[in-house]
Amino acid sequence: MDKIIVKGGTGLNGQIPISGAKNACLTLMPAALLSEEPLTLTNAPSLSDIRTMTQLLESLGCEVASLQGGRVLAIGTERISNHKADYDIVRKMRASILVLGPMLARDGEAVVSLPGGCAIGARPVDIHLTGLEALGAELDLRDGYVHAKATGGLKGAVYTMPFASVGATENLLMAATLAKGTTVLKNVAREPEIVDLAKCLRAMGANIEGEGTETLTIEGVDKLHGATHQVVTDRIELGTYMIAPMITNGEVELLGGRRDLVESFSQKLEAAGAEITQTDTGLRVKRVSERIQPVDVVTEVHPGFPTDLQAQMMALLTLADGTSVLEERIFENRFMHAPELQRMGANIEVHGGTATVHGVSKLKGAPVMATDLRASISLILAGLAAEGETVVSRVYHLDRGYEHVVRKLSGVGANIERVPENQ
Ligand code: UD1
Repeated sequence: MDKIIVKGGTGLNGQIPISGAKNACLTLMPAALLSEEPLTLTNAPSLSDIRTMTQLLESLGCEVASLQGGRVLAIGTERISNHKADYDIVRKMRASILVLGPMLARDGEAVVSLPGGCAIGARPVDIHLTGLEALGAELDLRDGYVHAKATGGLKGAVYTMPFASVGATENLLMAATLAKGTTVLKNVAREPEIVDLAKCLRAMGANIEGEGTETLTIEGVDKLHGATHQVVTDRIELGTYMIAPMITNGEVELLGGRRDLVESFSQKLEAAGAEITQTDTGLRVKRVSERIQPVDVVTEVHPGFPTDLQAQMMALLTLADGTSVLEERIFENRFMHAPELQRMGANIEVHGGTATVHGVSKLKGAPVMATDLRASISLILAGLAAEGETVVSRVYHLDRGYEHVVRKLSGVGANIERVPENQ
């Protein structure tokens, strides 16, 4: 397994291109199951999670062509030849559950392995399942699989989600496009990735209103057709790299960045001492306060502060001039980066879902271990500011969600390299 070595202390300056959103792409790809005609996605990121979804779709009978180095994905699903999403693939990635709604909607049958827990929390799929039942699906849970049937097709219904789950909203939205009649989904998630999915489904012929609000209204159609859709910018990669000039006291432009994708995060970054400017080509970020200022953060569903940027924000606040309190409300176990940051000299106390970060004047490089995707990048950000060398192991977590991390950061002057584990 490879590791990443970062030598800190250089102020980063220049431009970082931001890729297409992993989380958008992971829901757009299964949307291809809804139509016999091909769906072409442009601006796709080249990541291991995308390759896992490709493998899953291929196992169901899709033909997936990865073109231009993975930038363009052309997915054809003339026929779903296998309706079973196997445990061996699903266990690798929770987003695999997103094939359930589309397969059921198109063919009235699907068998999908339950994804199980993951490092950051139990993450059940109960909302996906009760929502599909509301649309008339008959579900049976046995041998670790959901066996779903909708004889005669799904039927439009009114369903109120008990919690605005991102994945459940996506699954139900896709399913409802081919249901008979009108579906009204209430208390849905409003993340930009859902808006992007609605836009793609509309290009495929779906009849959808209300994306980006708490209620989605979908008028079912008989068939969807092919389309070409450009994947929205990755707001989590954008937010992550907005921290890089802040923590190193540099100035970086994030190419393709849009403030509206990261509004609540930007407000916190400004409170911490950032100046953020929207340019014609992206977002420019520089630190204007001498020390990083402490800020309190509560993670919430969109448009609140994203849980996927909590670890990176914590890395920044370890160096603040005072105490910050971070409250994690989306996942029950998402502070695994805290003990690793402490190995670098951070002063953090964790009690349940709250982390109190007492700022220190400097961090020191150390060997640290990546525990999940966002935790891994937070250690790299900390390493960029730390004195000496930080060695991050288990970087396969990073490969799931950050494209060309070494190239992008060394392009703005970071001293960072990737080496095989045994070196
Ligand atoms: C998506 C994102 C992930 C992000 C998360 C929250 C993808 C591929 N992943 O994950 O990066 O961190 O949104 O912004 O887009 N829950 C239930 N029952 C359910 C579904 C969810 O209890 O049926 C709970 C989960 O355990 C979790 C919370 O709801 O505590 C949020 O989950 P959800 O919004 O569904 O996140 P994902 O779609 O899994």
